[in-house]
Parts: sequence; C-alpha cells; structure tokens
Amino acid sequence: MSEKGANPIDTEPITLTRFILAEQKKHPSATGDFSQLINFIQTAVKAVSSAVRKAGIHKIFGMSGTENVSGDDQKKLDVLANDLFINMLKSSFLTCLLVSEENDHAIVVEPEKRGKYIVTFDPLDGSSNIDCLVSIGSIFAIYRKKDDGPATEKDCLQSGRELVGAGYALYGSATMIVLSIGNGVNGFMLDPSIGEFILTEPDIKVKPRGKIYSINEGYEQFWDKATVEYVQSKKRPKTGKPYGARYIGSMVADVHRTLVYGGIFMYPATSEAPKGKLRMLYESIPMAFIVEQAGGLAVTGTQNILDIVPQSIHERCPVFMGSKEDVQDVIELYKKHGL
Ligand code: AHM
Ligand code: MG
Repeated sequence: MSEKGANPIDTEPITLTRFILAEQKKHPSATGDFSQLINFIQTAVKAVSSAVRKAGIHKIFGMSGTENVSGDDQKKLDVLANDLFINMLKSSFLTCLLVSEENDHAIVVEPEKRGKYIVTFDPLDGSSNIDCLVSIGSIFAIYRKKDDGPATEKDCLQSGRELVGAGYALYGSATMIVLSIGNGVNGFMLDPSIGEFILTEPDIKVKPRGKIYSINEGYEQFWDKATVEYVQSKKRPKTGKPYGARYIGSMVADVHRTLVYGGIFMYPATSEAPKGKLRMLYESIPMAFIVEQAGGLAVTGTQNILDIVPQSIHERCPVFMGSKEDVQDVIELYKKHGL
C-alpha cells in the first residue's frame, strides 16, 4: 500500500474553528466574540444538515402534514431550521437583532442575552426543492450594531459594505460552508466522521468569464429588454459557441456552481415583480459579498448590490452575479437600453 493510501487521515486538518481563531489572532484587539458567533452558526448548520439528510426517512419535510410515519408531530424542515438558527444565535449571548426570512419582523434578543452583532439569515433557502431532494442551503450575514441604544429594525438597514462577514451552507452531495470575513472566500466541507468543517477550498476565486448562464427562463415574457438581449446573446452568439444553461432553483446551489465553474446567475426584475424575488438582507447582499470577495461582481443591472441600503428588512432587488466580465456585459446592456 502506498504511504498515502496507508494513512488517509489528515493529522493537522484546518477546521473552521481553527481557521477563525487564526484570523482572530491577526487582530490583537479582537475579543473572540466573532469567532464564537461563527461557532454557534456552524453548530446550527450541522443540525440543519443532519435534519436535511434525515428528511426523507422521517418525512419531516413539506407537504401538508406535520405527522411522521409514527404519527408524532414533526416540524416542517424550514420551520425546524429557523428555530435552530434563532435558538443558537440567541443563546450565544452575542446578538441583539435577528432577521429571518421566516419572520415578518426582526427578532429583538432579550436584554439579558444581548450582544453586539446583528445576524440576518435565510435558514433554508430553495423551498421549492425541499420535497424533491434537490440541493438547498442556508444563507447568513453578520453586521455590528452601531450604537448602544435599544435595538430596532432600523439597525438592520445597513448596506453590504458594512458587513463583518457573510456566508452560506450548501446541503448538496456534501455539506459545505462558504465564508468570507472580508479578506477572500474559503470553503469548508463537513466531514461527517468527525463532525467538523474542514478547509477544503481555500481562497476561492471566480473565473473572469464563464460559459454558463443561469436564470428561470420560464419568465422570459416578463423580462426587461436588457435581460432579453443578454440571454439571447448567450444562446445565439454572433461568434463563438453558445453558453450552457443551468438552473437549479436554489440560489445557494446556483451561486455555488457559478463560483466553482464561472458564469452568471440571474434573478432579474420582471413586469410582475419590479424588484425581482430575492431579498436583500439575507439573500442578495450576503451572496453578493461572497461573489465580490471571490473576485466577481454582483449588480441589480444598474447598481452594485453592496452599495444599496435597504429601506425595509424584507426588501428585494434584481440580481445578476458571477464572473466579472459576464456581469459587465449585463451592465452595458442596461446602459444601452437606458434602463
Ligand atoms: P425561497 O426563499 O422561497 O426558497 O425562494 C428563493 C429561491 C432561491 O433560492 C431561488 O434562486 C429562487 O427562489 C428560485 O425562484 P423561481 O422558482 O421563481 O425560479
Ligand atoms: Mg429564501
């Protein structure tokens, strides 16, 4: 047996905890709170991942029922994921405000558990894919509360330029956390045998140009002229080969593929939904942050997503994100059409 084959266990893995701790040590003034917060988030992700993997067996997902085969009450998977995130974040003693896709209003953390961070999250994104076992994900963004006053929804309305960190968990053929704390992007794969996230994709960079476009083409009749022309130009280019089309319908999976293979992910405005579908605070902004930190670009067509200050916690925006040159082509078409 080769030496490699004989000893497949890495005796010095860089776990997510170790990685964050090393980053913390680069800043002598850091209190360790942020590192702790990431630990609570990774525990929530582990628990959600475990629930996702068991979903089919226990029939805890979707449909109308909340009973499992034994007749026990079971929570729907998205509700369970939301409860896990909220309980983990509150019990960290590190947060003051939580914004979840599942809750109409921001959750103000009890004064005795209050900390300085604001966390926005989509506990289980890709709801239409839950019941058919297609990849889904969780998305999170971390901000700081700017003052010591009482926490209100207004404190959450910050642009992506003020993020302390953001990331997502992809529950695909494996579970992976992709994280940025503002100095690049790193990917950590869950090793189920030790229950740890291990750095497997250091310093992720998205190609300057890809060969894949990703959009729900069923809505073409509702798109603006720039989007129509852009997609047409990829399908029927004047020169060269057409782009391939891929669309999973889970933002986390579609953006992760875009990071790994290059190309562009789009959820544009439509005549029916003039701001598109995706929510800024826990979908568009954190994913835009990751893409930009990986060397890509994320825009609404006319504005950089990270420059926008949301006016309400569930505000939406159109999304074009991925390889820089692909996204720049979209920006040019928005200019050309005077949009
Ligand atoms: P959700 O939060 O209800 O899951 O909706 C968000 C999801 C994204 O993951 C995905 O990009 C988009 O909805 C797909 O929407 P559509 O089915 O309209 O193409
Ligand atoms: Mg969502």
